[in-house]
Amino acid sequence: MSQEKVTVRGLRDVAAADSKLSFVDPKGLLYYLGYNIDNLVENVIYAEVAYLLVHQRLPKKQELEDFRSQLFLEMNLPEPIIESIKNSPKNAHPMSILRTEVSHLAEFDPDGNEFSPDANLRRATRLIAKVPTIVATLYRSRLNRSTPEPKKEFDFAKNFLYMFKGEEPDDNETRVIHRFMILHADHGFNASTFAARVTASTNSDIYSAVTSAIGTLKGPLHGGASEKVMDMLDDINLEEEVEEYIDGLLEQNKKIMGFGHRMYKAQDPRTKHLRGIVEDFCHQDRTSDLYNKCISIENIVYERKKIYPNVDFYAAVAMDALGVPKDFFPLFFASSRISGWVAHILEQYDDAVLLRPASNYIGELGRVFVPINQR
Ligand code: CMC
Repeated sequence: MSQEKVTVRGLRDVAAADSKLSFVDPKGLLYYLGYNIDNLVENVIYAEVAYLLVHQRLPKKQELEDFRSQLFLEMNLPEPIIESIKNSPKNAHPMSILRTEVSHLAEFDPDGNEFSPDANLRRATRLIAKVPTIVATLYRSRLNRSTPEPKKEFDFAKNFLYMFKGEEPDDNETRVIHRFMILHADHGFNASTFAARVTASTNSDIYSAVTSAIGTLKGPLHGGASEKVMDMLDDINLEEEVEEYIDGLLEQNKKIMGFGHRMYKAQDPRTKHLRGIVEDFCHQDRTSDLYNKCISIENIVYERKKIYPNVDFYAAVAMDALGVPKDFFPLFFASSRISGWVAHILEQYDDAVLLRPASNYIGELGRVFVPINQR
């Protein structure tokens, strides 16, 4: 049989569409709408980055105020969703509940079935606001505690952490949650964003596209990696055991979670910021202990494999330092990446082309059909 298609395994280096939203430079740089994230993370708040992604430009002062007010007003959930979260099985992975409840939100969308650019923009803002509220409500309900109402005087990212923890974050925690959310907001055609764009490319609704994205993020090769990083750190009792532990994994050809990247040939530009966040928490004994193990792991993995940590490695310790339990790590990722997802979904609607690759068929042809009772 002639091979008419060339398979690009894993779609490595295939550009599936044009995008203005973010540029992942393999040399170890990341840009949102042309702005280097190193500048953004030092100078803006998360809501500004969410606006930048969705509107493709930085907001003026009043525009940012209006956007923050819209987010604040949308940080609520329909009562049936709150009930559904409270009734969800406690042993189900929280990402499964988030995926279900984002899908559930579609049933209560005030814009109904209207599929206009304005309605989709309203939905995009709604989702940026509501995903963190679902996460906070789920966590609080698992603790059998109520979720505090967001406060008008708090900024969006601070409100998320406040609702999650049930107490006002201090200045360091507030700075950290902004930085964390900025660093996780977008990243080119990563697997979950691509999944969202494939769904959007059929002109399906934004809730369906984000549901696809959440299901894709959940996997341990993507956003589920940070939870596995913490499993590994928990498995290693002492810093002195790191070398033996890592060598043991490599001998079995196992992946070291939180390491390697499809795009970067140099250091992931987000790592240095996340490592810095963790350093700021090293006054906590547990964080200092985890940090020391991380530095040893980073050195040994580089020595053995010449690969660097990716975003999920220090993000795990940063979230742990904030008091987030490990099964909620991917939900913090989703609460930040939602701004990138919806921006890509809107961009995909504008591009208006069906994303539908071919496959390279390697099966048989012309097989003789045998009826079931003769097989
Ligand atoms: N541990 C050990 N070896 C690795 C790792 C790792 N984590 N990552 C890559 N390698 C090796 C791999 O074995 C291969 O070696 P060789 O050429 O000798 O066969 C080489 O590096 C190239 O790896 P690859 O598997 O072809 O790379 P990929 O682009 O297909 O996979 C990846 C990228 C992120 C899936 C992979 O690095 C991985 O599985 N990492 C662990 C999971 C993880 O941390 N995921 C988070 C990804 S970044 C953030 C996000 O998207 O959520």
